[in-house]
Amino acid sequence: LAKAEVDLNSIPEGKNVTIKWRGKPVFIRHRTTAEIADANQVNVQELRDPQTDAERVKEPEWLVMLGVCTHLGCVPIGEAGDYGGWYCPCHGSHYDISGRIRKGPAPLNLEIPEYAINDSLLIIG
Ligand code: FES
Repeated sequence: LAKAEVDLNSIPEGKNVTIKWRGKPVFIRHRTTAEIADANQVNVQELRDPQTDAERVKEPEWLVMLGVCTHLGCVPIGEAGDYGGWYCPCHGSHYDISGRIRKGPAPLNLEIPEYAINDSLLIIG
């Protein structure tokens, strides 16, 4: 099956879940109000891959992205790094709470897959 479904009610606020989709990890984070505010405080012009948080989410509470570092494809670690998001231990890339690259060798933000949210059902693909 090409699509993956996740019941969002099963993910508490402030928690990450990783699922497999088409052989790749997908990170789902239920962001807190403070995290959403942090993601929106960033000066987008200073980013290596300039994207607003709103361009990266459908609903601010839910960040859904591929768990594949855009440098050489390692799987970043959640709740780690200098920017409150993810850290890739392979060569030291730091991603923020919107999955945007902030420091280290990765060239691009973590990729956002196609997805939809219907009530509390997340459909990836
Ligand atoms: Fe992530 Fe190199 S693969 S920093």
